[in-house]
Amino acid sequence: MAIRQVRTKGDEILRKKCKPVSKIDKKLHELIDDMIETMYSVNGVGLAAPQVGILKRVVVIDIGEGPMALINPEIISESGEQIEVEGCLSIPGIWGEVKRPAQIVVKALDRDGKSLRIEGTGMLARVLSHETDHLEGILFEDKVIRYIEPEKENSQEK
Ligand code: NI
Repeated sequence: MAIRQVRTKGDEILRKKCKPVSKIDKKLHELIDDMIETMYSVNGVGLAAPQVGILKRVVVIDIGEGPMALINPEIISESGEQIEVEGCLSIPGIWGEVKRPAQIVVKALDRDGKSLRIEGTGMLARVLSHETDHLEGILFEDKVIRYIEPEKENSQEK
């Protein structure tokens, strides 16, 4: 496994739409393992492939319940709303309030290609929404309602 460089704001790859994964092979597993290691190295709770320069529909998440890899994630329903402070590993040091769904259901493939259905509320719903946005080239700053002072406690970058 290896830590990959996290692309930051200004890198145009972050604004591109990612392509679906068509083959789950050793190279993809390497990408997933590297993404998890990279996410942990910067204390993130989520990371999307374009953040390490790969335009594939892959995200990794760990909200404190162990790592989860989602391949070709697709939001199948969302409801309610929550407004919380969030940040992004690709926009370091900036924090802002963002409105996200309160509940979200995502279908995806796991790292072995098995179908998954994840129902998230609270923090998990927020991270699922944030990471799937990355795959469309959307950054949290596009949705910020209000910026707050940096280094606020309890803020986590994704
Ligand atoms: Ni992010």
